[in-house]
This record gives sequence, structure tokens and C-alpha cells, in this order.
Amino acid sequence: MINIIVAIDKNYLIGDRNKIPWDIPEDLKLFKEKTTDNFLLMGRKTFESIGKPLPNRVNIVISKSLDSEFKIEKNKLYKFEDLLNKIIVFSNIEDGLEFYKKINFENNYNKDIFIIGGGSIYNEFIQKKKFDKLCISHINGEYLGDTYFPKINFKNYKINFEKKFNNFIYREYI
Ligand SMILES: NC(=O)c1ccc[n+]([C@@H]2O[C@H](COP(=O)([O-])OP(=O)(O)OC[C@H]3O[C@@H](n4cnc5c(N)ncnc54)[C@H](OP(=O)(O)O)[C@@H]3O)[C@@H](O)[C@H]2O)c1
Repeated sequence: MINIIVAIDKNYLIGDRNKIPWDIPEDLKLFKEKTTDNFLLMGRKTFESIGKPLPNRVNIVISKSLDSEFKIEKNKLYKFEDLLNKIIVFSNIEDGLEFYKKINFENNYNKDIFIIGGGSIYNEFIQKKKFDKLCISHINGEYLGDTYFPKINFKNYKINFEKKFNNFIYREYI
């Protein structure tokens, strides 16, 4: 399953100068809980902003300028464990998604891929409607920044799950 996971403020803001505009540990904890033991797909700038592979997840980075230190051998059957704590770079989104699907299928896994940003990657997935679920932390308030999530109308989706926290509401939409 392809999940988009993001934290947005009231104006759909997601980033400021390559950082998250707020500091909400509870949301980071939730992000960790949701994504651990699954695949991640992110843009190069988001990867650079995080600065390291996120542990216990397969980290797929999309970039035309970065080289992949991890070289994929075409006919090798990779296990999830082989790929942990490594950065696997693809020059386009389709190849990154194919890699996830192949490993999931060949190993008979039931793992999800989480699209973790940033703005340009979210835009592409939303525009092409390439997702099964939206996992949104709706952050209370309005912040300053430079990067936004596409202005979709959440009313067009069904709320599948909802949980209230101090500074935000987390909802899953299908
Ligand atoms: N609030 C949240 O939940 C959240 C989550 C994630 C990120 N963010 C924020 O979002 C901001 C970063 O977003 P961003 O839009 O500036 O950058 P980004 O999407 O993280 O990365 C952009 C880069 O990804 C690569 N890329 C994107 N689409 C591609 C494609 N179709 N084919 C090949 N490469 C592609 C390109 O890398 P190359 O230039 O190397 O080719 C591009 O320059 C930061 O402020 C970050 O903190 C917020």
C-alpha cells in the first residue's frame, strides 16, 4: 500500500528553509510508529534535511544529482534486512516504487511504502493520484515558511481513523 504521510498547518505549510517549521515531539513519535518496519520514499532535499537514513526502515531517495552508494544487483533477491540503514537512490519515482513492489512481492511481505516528502514529491503523488491512503497531522495554527502541500480538499476523502493530540489532530483519509 502507498501511504502519503505529512504534517501540515492550517494553510497547508510543510517546510521552511529545508526544515519543519514547528517542533512537536508527539508528531515525530507518531511518524516513527507509523513508518517503522516499512519502506520510505523521499526527495533529495528532505533526505539532506534529515541527514541520515532513518533506522529500521528502507530509505529510498529520489534524485538526479546524487549517486547511489548502494548498488542494486539486478537478479539478486533482496530481503528487507539487507536494505536497512542504507540509502538507495533512484533517478525517478517510478523506479523507486517498482523496487519496493518487487521486494514486497518476491518475499511475500505485506509492507507499506510511506511517501515522506517534501513538497515536490508530494505534488507528484497527489497530481497523479498515486496513493492509497493519506496520513495527515493537521497542526493547529499558522506558521511561516516556503514549502506547501498541494491544496487538496480533504472533504473529498473518507476519514478512516482519527486521533486528537495537544497540538494537532492526526487523520487517515482513504
Ligand atoms: N511537514 C512535513 O511533514 C514535511 C515532510 C517532508 C519534508 N518537509 C519539508 O519539505 C521541504 C523540502 O521539500 P522540497 O520540495 O523543497 O524538496 P524535496 O521534494 O524533498 O526534494 C526535491 C528534490 O528531490 C528530487 N526529485 C523530486 N522529484 C523528482 C523526480 N520526479 N525525479 C527525480 N528527482 C526528483 C530532486 O533532487 P535532485 O535535485 O538531486 O535531482 C529535487 O531537487 C523541507 O522544508 C522539509 O523540511 C516537510
